[in-house]
Amino acid sequence: MLRKIEYLYQFIEKINIVFLHKIFRLKKFITLNLVLFISFSWAQTFQLPSLKFAYTDYEPFIDAKTMEIHHSKHHQTYVNNLNKAIQGTKLEKFSLNNLLINTSYFSETIRNNAGGHYNHSLFWEILTPKSNSSPDEILLKAIEESFGKLDSLQTKLQQAAMIRFGSGWAWLIVNPDGKLQVTHTGNQDNPLMDVISERGIPIIGIDVWEHAYYLKHQNKRNDYIYAIWSILDWGVISEKYQAAIKDPTLEKIKQDNWPELKAFHKVMSATFHAAEKSDFKPIIERNNELKVNAYLLKNSEIPVLNPTEEATMSKSLHKLEKQTNDLNRYLTIGRKISDKLIFKKLTAIHDTFHEIAGLCKEE
Ligand SMILES: [Fe+2]
Repeated sequence: MLRKIEYLYQFIEKINIVFLHKIFRLKKFITLNLVLFISFSWAQTFQLPSLKFAYTDYEPFIDAKTMEIHHSKHHQTYVNNLNKAIQGTKLEKFSLNNLLINTSYFSETIRNNAGGHYNHSLFWEILTPKSNSSPDEILLKAIEESFGKLDSLQTKLQQAAMIRFGSGWAWLIVNPDGKLQVTHTGNQDNPLMDVISERGIPIIGIDVWEHAYYLKHQNKRNDYIYAIWSILDWGVISEKYQAAIKDPTLEKIKQDNWPELKAFHKVMSATFHAAEKSDFKPIIERNNELKVNAYLLKNSEIPVLNPTEEATMSKSLHKLEKQTNDLNRYLTIGRKISDKLIFKKLTAIHDTFHEIAGLCKEE
């Protein structure tokens, strides 16, 4: 009898251990999920950058109140709205640069707020109330090549800022040919965006929204531009110039101006993304068009900046033509080809396109 009671106690103890263990695991599971949920909810993909100086340090060129409102309210709002717009979407993984150079594929909200965040971050970075440096030798040479002298660049920037009707930005950019150019854009657009005709990498951006100057200069935008010119940080701008001329983004922008690539992409995107959803009608109807566009692409002028990349690109273009020919042959021989094989071949074409164009944008 005693032995039976002892077994019973051992059994109850065992159950308790399992039960407690389960409770412990459940608690651990809930805690882990809670932490993940909280981190996810609070995740801020983009952050307001700190200023290098106090708001008062920019006086008398920019008044402290304007600096404070501009930075802590206007810029912060662009950051908040951008984070809100991308939260829970695949765009959370995109860099700011990628959001900008592919703007045409995203919403107006993303265009305005990603632009607002990038533009203001650049603006704060290139301003210094502390020193009156001048461009380094390399940048000065480039300025003289494009504008004759530094004063002419100032005049050009002044003109661009004054021509811009309403809100926008005046820019000094490195264009896809590696040359300096002065441009201007409306609202929070900038020259990285694929919706802008004069594209390049900005190295100076001057905010000409009234919120940037109205408290001090009221309607005198010209006075404000003079003030900004006086506090440009040429050390930072010179560094930005040297980074920009080596930046692969310039090649991407060049590619966006590559009409044959765009034409090929249009057909490939329509056929490949349909096939991903098991719809093979588009590729059956348009495989010849895909082949012709691959041929035209292979024979077009390759807009890249260095010979090594041109050789790699040329190799990929030949491969693309061969693959599209191959698929076309399969689809025109009159025999029934399995969807699986069509998709395999189309995926290989899509992969080669990635080698050429980098990011593939869904249409
Ligand atoms: Fe602004």
